[in-house]
Amino acid sequence: MRIAVVGSGYVGLVSGACFADFGHEVTCVDSNEDKIKALKAGVMPIYEPGLDQIVAKNCAAKRLLFTTDLAGAVSTAETVFIAVGTPSRRGDGHADLSYVYAVAREIAHNIQGFTVVVTKSTVPVGTGDEVERIIREENPLADVAVVSNPEFLREGAAIEDFKRPDRIVIGIEDERARAVMTEVYRPLYLNKAPLMFTARRTSELIKYAANAYLAMKITFINEMADLCEAVGSNVQDVAHGIGLDNRIGSKFLHAGPGYGGSCFPKDTLALVKTAQDYGSPLRLIETTVAINDQRKRAMARKVARAIGSDLRGKTVALLGLTFKPNTDDMRESPAISIIQGLQDHGARVRAFDPEGMEAAKAYVSDVEFGTDPYGIAEGADALVLVTEWDAFRALDFPRLKSVMTDPLLVDLRNVYRRALIAKHGFRYVSIGRPKEDIPVVLASAAE
Ligand SMILES: NC(=O)c1ccc[n+]([C@@H]2O[C@H](COP(=O)([O-])OP(=O)(O)OC[C@H]3O[C@@H](n4cnc5c(N)ncnc54)[C@H](O)[C@@H]3O)[C@@H](O)[C@H]2O)c1
Repeated sequence: MRIAVVGSGYVGLVSGACFADFGHEVTCVDSNEDKIKALKAGVMPIYEPGLDQIVAKNCAAKRLLFTTDLAGAVSTAETVFIAVGTPSRRGDGHADLSYVYAVAREIAHNIQGFTVVVTKSTVPVGTGDEVERIIREENPLADVAVVSNPEFLREGAAIEDFKRPDRIVIGIEDERARAVMTEVYRPLYLNKAPLMFTARRTSELIKYAANAYLAMKITFINEMADLCEAVGSNVQDVAHGIGLDNRIGSKFLHAGPGYGGSCFPKDTLALVKTAQDYGSPLRLIETTVAINDQRKRAMARKVARAIGSDLRGKTVALLGLTFKPNTDDMRESPAISIIQGLQDHGARVRAFDPEGMEAAKAYVSDVEFGTDPYGIAEGADALVLVTEWDAFRALDFPRLKSVMTDPLLVDLRNVYRRALIAKHGFRYVSIGRPKEDIPVVLASAAE
């Protein structure tokens, strides 16, 4: 099958590379010439484990091409995926659909023969209707079926998620699209990945409902962590205890500094706006958004409390900047609010992140970037673990203690156990675990 993917960012590039790996002939289009030039030279614009190999393999097999020529790619494609960004619109938080609609307009003039146009970008309910309207308005002769096929991949595990999805959601209004989409995903279908066909507007909402639910689950455990601190319970054990209930499940129950990234913040906000517009407000999600915004900034106050004095003249060293490990994505990372908050309190901020420092420079200022945890810890009054990269899971505490002014670790990801840290003479503050950790032993039913 010949596929064009318009937008070669996280989703477009991963989707294009994986479709090519399935055996399809894929052309990835992007309007950013530098990005395409780099991709042609084998340089990935993002850090995503395994992506460079899969791109190289499929480029060598001539199944994967990169171009800025949208017209050429679309005119020969049977299926065109739209995978451009849908950021929050400045001012009101609605999804900015200008990129999607611009691509729809461009596609319209270049379609040849029956073509399935698939919106993979995360878009509000009704966007598919508008994409179809735009294409028909621009080119009344275009023979198209406009489909919704939201993407659920996680950055850092994108290839695995794309190739082994829990489900593939496909929203169609034109029955002809069913066979085409089944063919696109045939290799996954054979692997028993459930293909779920539904109406287009339902498919669009499924994506937002999924992200809103996950954001709410994270926020639930984050609030529970605050309560644990107040009442002397351990949030990790609470999460474990409730997560063993199949109706709840253990995933997305890790308390931390608040969710970030390119999806949850903007998608929850866009869903809230859509729901308000339709007179059917989602109060749970409105509250989730508010709690999470406040939480990120509250983390700076938590660090200040741990240091215990005025932050003026103090140096705080941050381990990790990206919103999660194994990505260089800094969009909406809690680190941004934490840094801002610490600087507002008068602290000097240093930071090290294995992959995110270049990207971070666009979001924060007056931060001294280091090359490893030990360099930034020199003379620091606190070390704050913000992102749980593997590189921070086995720190050399004697070495850190020897260079820090005050041996204090604020662990915002609950990576360490208090007993270990205390043994090295560190003060330790974590999330929702106010007391000495007591290991939980689960007795099996047979005992
Ligand atoms: N990043 C994720 O983890 C993720 C997961 C699921 C869904 N999504 C959704 O997928 C969509 C894309 O997200 P992303 O993170 O890949 O975005 P991104 O910003 O990384 O990439 C978008 C790309 O589209 C290109 N582009 C913009 N206008 C174009 C045009 N007219 N023609 C050609 N190229 C154009 C940009 O240059 C950019 O390279 C969003 O709607 C997002 O919400 C993202």
